[in-house]
Amino acid sequence: MAALLPTLHLAQKEFGYISSEVEEYVAGYLDLPVTHVHGVATFYTMYNKKPVGKYHIQVCTNISCSLLGADHLFDYLSKKLKIGDGETTEDKKFTLSSVECLGSCGTAPVMQINDDYYEDLTEEKIDEILKGLE
Ligand code: FES
Repeated sequence: MAALLPTLHLAQKEFGYISSEVEEYVAGYLDLPVTHVHGVATFYTMYNKKPVGKYHIQVCTNISCSLLGADHLFDYLSKKLKIGDGETTEDKKFTLSSVECLGSCGTAPVMQINDDYYEDLTEEKIDEILKGLE
């Protein structure tokens, strides 16, 4: 049971997202009911339920980030990438998601791209960050 979260994390790193086939594999590997693995995988927002782009941009839109402009920054990214919440660019490079608190409220507004955090965001910083990902 304690191994489930790290195993799902590794599976996501390997396969990109947690499909029902991955849930079945993890359940078999850890000798857990598939329904339990599915419940955990769907409860936590950090697990992708469908394929995502090479760069998964997750923008925190919870209260601290929201008060410091996260909604505006999310719209800025959405217009810049021409995709909405949960969507992926045609070239499969970027997926954009609005997420709950990333646990870094003191440096709001915050976004996470794959395993990296980007803090104290502004439009200019976002431009720089995206340029670095080209
Ligand atoms: S509210 Fe955005 S990191 Fe906590």
